[in-house]
Amino acid sequence: CDDTQPLFGLSGFPIGVAVDVPKLRYDNQYRDIVHNQFNSLTPENILKFENIHPAEAQYEWAEMDHLIEFAQSGNKRVHGHTLIWHKQLPVWLLNHKGNKEDWLVLMRDHIFKIMTRYKGKVQSWDVVNEAFNEDGTLRHSIWNQKIGPGYIEQAFLFAHQADKDALLFYNDFNLALNANKRKAVLKLITTLKSKNVPIHGIGMQMHVFDGFPSQTEINTAAIEFQKLGLKIHFSELDISLNPLANKQAPTNKMLGNQKRKIKMIVLNYQQLGISSKFGITVWGVSDIDSWIPANFNRMDWPLLYDDEYQTKPMYCGFKEGLLNK
Ligand code: G3I
Repeated sequence: CDDTQPLFGLSGFPIGVAVDVPKLRYDNQYRDIVHNQFNSLTPENILKFENIHPAEAQYEWAEMDHLIEFAQSGNKRVHGHTLIWHKQLPVWLLNHKGNKEDWLVLMRDHIFKIMTRYKGKVQSWDVVNEAFNEDGTLRHSIWNQKIGPGYIEQAFLFAHQADKDALLFYNDFNLALNANKRKAVLKLITTLKSKNVPIHGIGMQMHVFDGFPSQTEINTAAIEFQKLGLKIHFSELDISLNPLANKQAPTNKMLGNQKRKIKMIVLNYQQLGISSKFGITVWGVSDIDSWIPANFNRMDWPLLYDDEYQTKPMYCGFKEGLLNK
């Protein structure tokens, strides 16, 4: 359907996209869609530890600086993803010796260097990403191993010290689908709040499959987080169509289901209170940009645009949801 009107003009909240910054530099079509359709940008990979902090005494700012320039010239918000995660870590960090105190200093320096540089330019951050296992126990990440479970609290405290104005998020997946995991995250946030540790938002990643999570599951989860007074970010939206890896191309029926699904998700989001709506971010522009095929070694078509940068029914479903139709 027609994409001459930007998606972001259709709603009262920001519409975001995960951006592959190298591609933003060399692919005009890609850049035009990012510029025309979205008003909130999340760097997909360049802020991750291995990319921005590849050696102990080395930070690589060029890619992030480029994104900031692009965002500023187009009047777009930038959401920082992500400071403390168990993946995409550089070898030097994995081999780093030292006791708990050393690791706290290391974590603090990492957070401070990055947040200070982008103070006022990046207004919100996924401070901690994916800290829980599916059964609700805390992941045995390197941060947990070296610092202990208190690393989460520390990361939020450091982030707040680094930039008092920044909005700080916890970001994770399957929070609608998996009630056990959600309970653990709700408990963590309740504890942080009771200790006055600053946390302002929840990133509910929306990596969904064609059939689930259900409308009720999404609704229940979002309302529970809203009750804690958090801003809610549907932070990594994509809808996989080929989980069994048995399709070579999507059928019209599959694309129609995907359209209905995204419309349902967006309508669901619309029901949240205005001050809770941080925005919805899709995890990539076109199907060819998606992380899913490479990660699962299969074909898939999870995003709004096809490989030729043409809008898919999913785009129309997004639009209809935003227009509240
Ligand atoms: O940049 C290198 C390139 O130089 C190299 O030649 C190539 C060979 O494999 O790899 C390239 O890096 C890849 C990178 O994406 C950029 O394309 C990495 O191997 C690959 O692992 C990486 O995947 C990213 C993944 O996180 C890593 O965990 C995906 O793009 C990214 O979409 C995905 O995003 C995560 C969120 O951050 C957190 N939530 C889940 C989500 C999906 O996994």
